[in-house]
Amino acid sequence: MPWQSALQSARRILSRFRRPKAPLVDPACRPWHGRMIDLHSHMLPGLDDGAVDWGQSLEMARLAVAEGIAGVVCTPHWVYGLYDNSRERVMRICDMLQQRLHDAGIPLGAHPGCEIRLEPDIPRKIASGDLLTLNDRGCHALIELPAELIPSYVENCFRDLMDRGITPILSHPERNPWILRHPDHLFRWVETGVVCQITAASLMGRFGPLVRRFTTMLIQHQMAHIMATDAHTPTARSPRMAEAVLALEALIGPEPSEKMVITNPAAVLSGERIHMTAPTPFTGSECSSALGWRRHLVPRC
Ligand SMILES: [Fe+2]
Repeated sequence: MPWQSALQSARRILSRFRRPKAPLVDPACRPWHGRMIDLHSHMLPGLDDGAVDWGQSLEMARLAVAEGIAGVVCTPHWVYGLYDNSRERVMRICDMLQQRLHDAGIPLGAHPGCEIRLEPDIPRKIASGDLLTLNDRGCHALIELPAELIPSYVENCFRDLMDRGITPILSHPERNPWILRHPDHLFRWVETGVVCQITAASLMGRFGPLVRRFTTMLIQHQMAHIMATDAHTPTARSPRMAEAVLALEALIGPEPSEKMVITNPAAVLSGERIHMTAPTPFTGSECSSALGWRRHLVPRC
């Protein structure tokens, strides 16, 4: 019947916009609850567009603990000419946060870090100690790519970092419009050892259905190694993780999910290498059916 096939098509289209439903499981009963490490958070107050004061920082910390997060790496933006968050500055404010967490009885470990916007001389700035690696171990740097156009020096920059023993971790590549248009480049980078951190809210559809589908693709192709909150506030961009981990478990199972929220972030904290599975390339039809022409409409994140 023509109306039945029309109904089926309509359902198929609508399902693309529906947020994934996590299974009805109490997150507090899962083995990862209380052990997760959030590798990307803007919890330090007054350093960027994250928490504005200590009150917000502590509120975010309480929410993180309720989500089952045991440790957080505080990664304020470093953007040339906009956010000048030097290593010394971030370390100092992070120590203050740890003290305040202790005084408030909030059981959360705070570690220093930085989300570094790509610039040609960041390998030198990191090596000289001007900019922070994650947990100041000198092993992993959280790198944010520009949204609209990826500079031609990006691969040289990755190579330079790796030659210095620093693994680049790309923050939320699934939300980068250029990468959505050129997923094959991301595949090539991951093949050479670049690590990808996806955002929990991307998997839950907070950035729209296209970003959610691309996030799922990255996970299924072994191109997502760490999931973090990228929390900015206690409300709109809050440190929510538990629901996304349940969705992740439904997608890839409990063991690989734990790897993304416990094992791999813990390795970064202690300055050890992350053991990565070889990524599987995207097929042309996968890209065109999952992303389609709408990837050109992805808003700037
Ligand atoms: Fe961020």
